[in-house]
Amino acid sequence: MTTEVTMDKIVSLCRRRGFVFPASEIYGGMGSSYDYGHYGVLLKDNVKARWLEAMVRERDDIVALDSSIILNPRVWEASGHVGGFSDPLVDCRTCKQRFRADHLADPEHEDVRCGKRPSKRPGETSDCDLTEPRQFNLMFRTRVGAVEATGTDVYLRPETAQGIFVNFKNVAQLARRKPPFGIAQVGKAFRNEITPGNFIFRTLEFEQMEMEFFVPPSEADEWYRYWVAERLAWHVRYGIREESLRVRPHEADELSHYSSGTSDIEYLFPIGWSELEGIANRGDFDLTQHTAASGTKLEWVDSGSGERFVPHVIEPALGVNRSMLAFLVDAYEEEVVGERERTVLRLHPQLAPVKAAVLPLIAKDGAMVERARSLYEELRRSASVEYDDSGAIGRRYRRQDEIGTPWAFTIDEQTTVDGTVTVRDRDSLAQERIPLENVTSWLAGRLVEPWSAPPRH
Ligand code: GAP
Repeated sequence: MTTEVTMDKIVSLCRRRGFVFPASEIYGGMGSSYDYGHYGVLLKDNVKARWLEAMVRERDDIVALDSSIILNPRVWEASGHVGGFSDPLVDCRTCKQRFRADHLADPEHEDVRCGKRPSKRPGETSDCDLTEPRQFNLMFRTRVGAVEATGTDVYLRPETAQGIFVNFKNVAQLARRKPPFGIAQVGKAFRNEITPGNFIFRTLEFEQMEMEFFVPPSEADEWYRYWVAERLAWHVRYGIREESLRVRPHEADELSHYSSGTSDIEYLFPIGWSELEGIANRGDFDLTQHTAASGTKLEWVDSGSGERFVPHVIEPALGVNRSMLAFLVDAYEEEVVGERERTVLRLHPQLAPVKAAVLPLIAKDGAMVERARSLYEELRRSASVEYDDSGAIGRRYRRQDEIGTPWAFTIDEQTTVDGTVTVRDRDSLAQERIPLENVTSWLAGRLVEPWSAPPRH
């Protein structure tokens, strides 16, 4: 029987094992905001590390950047966000709920439920009293300066991309890069989203992994297609099943104000097919806008030939939290083993928060504990590992299964006799014995092997 993976099951596992919980919960929570516990932080860090590796470490043509969250407010005027980064909203005067007009138009949309009668859709009954759509800017505004009256209005960035565009000249010169080249950035972004969150799918603050790839204008189409394929392959490389991914090119009326072509990589989330990552051909929109508004020419000039052009930009943009959600959903499985149910996260070993557990079979056995502690101390120098001696061995395995730990090393009586340990594999449940002194190199070898998700049961 195939596991039906619902959002409730993911939320419950995340809470039970301390991956993610509602923000400021003791005060009743804060809508669409979540805090990340120990395993959530480790998993999120691994997602970011794998993205940065693929973007920067494995390539010669992309460099990293970390720009400020609060930028000169003129950046957001030039980028079009002050004027155009808005959702059309409809209020219901009866139930006081707010809806996105474009979601209301879609009869299947998950985000739309009548505030009074959950089974009904807004506008369906004569009680519903909906306003005309009004544009609502998604940027959070705050003030910089000690004195309220003389302070300056600024925005929390709604995307990391603009910090890259305004640094184009700095980076191109300092990093001595010639188009095609890219600038990659990971960091927080903030949006005053009004639609209910669906857990960490859509939140008020989130992290983005964005890369702006600057290319000669004549090569833009080719690079756009390249990056759609490259990004799709990244999700598969880290374990997402191909059948749960699809590429959906945007219709002309869906395109953002800056884009001449966008494709979403969609994932089959429990809420249905939804955007996981966007890849946009932004043309020369951003560099041209910032050149006009700032007076600084953002263009490429070849010092030898004198050739000059405004590069076009291809942008793959992925949310860290949304990516983590997709990995969790894809990895989640319930199965019955030996008449007992187990929940397992079949995460790619390079994403798993903990790579291996070290377990002495009997916690009161001094010789086993000593060997287990010493193995643990050795392994933790190079990997995220856990030592656990509490409770029955079966329960300890299940705890590790639920947080996605790919391997467990158990120290038992035989270890004290012949110096071998049992390795248990999370996915196949196979057990083999290997010499204690080989464990560190065995784990290092397994961690770099290619991995793909086993078929769902
Ligand atoms: N610079 C382009 C840009 O920001 P976007 O499609 O608005 O494009 C890119 O955002 C990605 O950021 C999305 O595909 C999604 O993964 C993530 N994202 C956007 N809004 C989000 C939110 N409110 N909560 C969580 N992730 C979000």
